[in-house]
Amino acid sequence: MGVLEDKSRARTFYKYLSKVYDQVNPFIWNEEMRTEALGLLDFEPDNRVLDIGCGTGFATEGLLNHVDHVYGLDQSPHQLEKAYAKFGKRDGPVTFHLGDAERLPFRDDTFDVVWSSGSIEYWPNPVDALRECRRVAKPGGQVLVVGPNYPNSSVFQRLADAIMLFYDESEADRMFRDAGFTEFEHHTMGPSYNPEIAITTVAQVPE
Ligand SMILES: C[S@@+](CC[C@H](N)C(=O)[O-])C[C@H]1O[C@@H](n2cnc3c(N)ncnc32)[C@H](O)[C@@H]1O
Repeated sequence: MGVLEDKSRARTFYKYLSKVYDQVNPFIWNEEMRTEALGLLDFEPDNRVLDIGCGTGFATEGLLNHVDHVYGLDQSPHQLEKAYAKFGKRDGPVTFHLGDAERLPFRDDTFDVVWSSGSIEYWPNPVDALRECRRVAKPGGQVLVVGPNYPNSSVFQRLADAIMLFYDESEADRMFRDAGFTEFEHHTMGPSYNPEIAITTVAQVPE
């Protein structure tokens, strides 16, 4: 397990990274990729949408181009502070929760769309969290998860494994199946210097 697949360490990491996250982020997860991922989903403006690991709200902002309101959850108070500054802490278009992807504070069958970008790589038990995504999503709803694609070179694989979860399509198949999904597809995407840096899975929630 990578050094950052630990909730406490990830929280400490984001205490510092939150200061520069919005400046650094576009090198690996940019607006074009976000638009491409958003294009994989069907939205109605009144859909209930959850953004897990919402961070400073980069994806939340994209989701708000499609729906009127978003629920954003993150385990880092420092990342959330940055998001509050953009959307307002209360009474804005985002309802925020400080919480854990592996124990979502929502009832079963609550959301039409559950989105998570760039967060699964920090979850120590990704299958548990994907089960939580399925639980809180409505039957027939959609779950979209963006994560880091497993590198091809063995040197980078060793480095990646030491840091956090990087996974290929077959590992994504295993995780989504183990979490109870039966219908899903994967897409790779990335900036021009590495067009397959990210793996995005869109899953239908079983009826
Ligand atoms: C790379 S940032 C992604 C932020 C945002 N989703 C985006 O698209 O830019 C990863 C976020 O996941 C959050 N995170 C990591 N582990 C988490 C967990 N177990 N539960 C909730 N959030 C978590 C981190 O605090 C961080 O804000």
